[in-house]
Amino acid sequence: MATLDYKATYDISRYGFLQERRPYIEVTKEKFGDIAHLIDNITRDGEAFRKMCTVVSRVPDVYTILEDDAKVLYSILTMIIHKWVWGCGVDNISHIIPFKIGYTWWHLCEYWHYPKVLTHASVDLFNWKFIDDTKEFSLDNITNCHTITGNHSESWFYLIMVAIEGVGGQAIKHIMNVYDELQGGRKIDKITYEVLQISDYMNSCVEIIKRNFERFTNGTHKCDPDYFFNKLRIYLSGFNNTTYFPEGGIKIESMDIKPINLKGGSAAQSSLIQLFDIFLGIKHPEKHSNDFLKEMRDYMPMKHKLFLEYCEKLPSLRDFVESQDDHALTSYYSICVERLLSLRRVHIAIVHTYVMAFVKKDSSTNVNKEKGTGGTDPNVFLKNVIEDTNRAVI
Ligand code: HEM
Repeated sequence: MATLDYKATYDISRYGFLQERRPYIEVTKEKFGDIAHLIDNITRDGEAFRKMCTVVSRVPDVYTILEDDAKVLYSILTMIIHKWVWGCGVDNISHIIPFKIGYTWWHLCEYWHYPKVLTHASVDLFNWKFIDDTKEFSLDNITNCHTITGNHSESWFYLIMVAIEGVGGQAIKHIMNVYDELQGGRKIDKITYEVLQISDYMNSCVEIIKRNFERFTNGTHKCDPDYFFNKLRIYLSGFNNTTYFPEGGIKIESMDIKPINLKGGSAAQSSLIQLFDIFLGIKHPEKHSNDFLKEMRDYMPMKHKLFLEYCEKLPSLRDFVESQDDHALTSYYSICVERLLSLRRVHIAIVHTYVMAFVKKDSSTNVNKEKGTGGTDPNVFLKNVIEDTNRAVI
C-alpha cells in the first residue's frame, strides 16, 4: 500500500479530484479549431448559437490530443451540446446534434471514457482556474473557465462545488495516511492525529457550502434561486426524460448510434463525498439510495470511480475506532461524521431554497420539476442519506 502511487494511478491532484492545470490551457483556434469560436459565443441567444453550430468545419483530432486538452475539450463540448439541445427552451428542443460537433464529442467520450452528458466533472472538476496563480487555493481565488449562460448565478453554483472539492480534496493525503497506518503499525496516536487533520478539512467544507447563500453587497444572491430554477436548471436536465425525448434520447446527425439517454448533472457525482462515506464507514442501506449513489459512480471520471472501489477494499477506520475504545480517537472520528452530517443538513436547506420552494409554482422551463437532476425524489433520498450519517455518530 505504501508503495502505491495513488495520485498517478487514480488521477488525483494536490486538490483531490480537481484537475489542477498550471499553466492554464487557453482554448485557442489553433488547438481546438472552430470549437474555440463556439465556446467564445456560447452566451448568444439560442437560435444564433444553433446557426453557428451548423457551420463548424475544423475540429481537433481526439485520438492525438493530450489528456489535459481532452478534459478541456470534454468540458467545453458538453456545454456547447447542452446549449444546442436546450438553448431555445423546452418547446424547441433539438434532438439531433450536428455531425462535426457530435462526432468529435462521441469519439472523445468513447476514447477517454467520459459520460456523454454534462457532469460534475465537465462543469466543476475540469472547469476552474486560479484568479491569482501565486496565491493559495480558496473560494475567493478561483473562477470558472467557462459557463453556458455567462450569469453570475451559474458561476457561483459551480464554484461552491469546486471549492469544496479543492479544500476537502486536501484531506485525501491524510485519509491515505490512515489507511497506511491501518495496514501497518496501527499506531493510535498517528491515526488520531490524521483524523483530526481530516476533521479540519471537513469543517472547511461545511463553511464553504454555507456560502452557497452568500449575497453581493447590493443584497442580491450570488446564486439567485429564481435564476437557478428557471434559467439554469434546464441545462442540467440530461437526455433521459421521455416526455422531452420520445425517441429515447439525443442522436448525432449521420451516425448510426443508439439514442444517448443519460441523466443530468448533479453534485451527487462527487467522488469526494462518497470517499468521506467510505472512509468513515457510513452505509446507505436503503436500496434506492444505495443504487442511486452507486449509479452516480458511472458519471465520475473512470479513475476516480476505481479509486473509490480501491478504498472500499481497505481496512475500516470505524472498526478500528470501535475496537480501541480510545476517547480522543472516538471523539475525532465522531466529529468527522458530524461534519459530514452538517454538510448534508446545509445541503438539504439549499435544495429547499433552490428547488422545493419553486415546485408549487408553474414553471414551463423546468423539466425535472420536484425531482433532482439526477432523478431522485430529494425529500426522500436526501433525508435517508442524512439519517444514515446521523446513525454513524459513535
Ligand atoms: C443550488 C445548489 C444545489 C442543488 C439545487 C442541489 C440539489 C441536489 C439534489 C436534488 C440532489 C438529489 C440527487 C439528484 O436527484 O440529483 C442532490 C444530491 C447531492 N448533492 Fe446537491 N445540490 C446543490 C448543491 C450541492 C453542493 C454545493 C454540493 C456539495 C457538497 C452538493 C452535493 C450533493 C451530493 C454529495 C449529493 C448526493 C447525496 C449525498 O451524498 O449527500 N450539492 N443535490
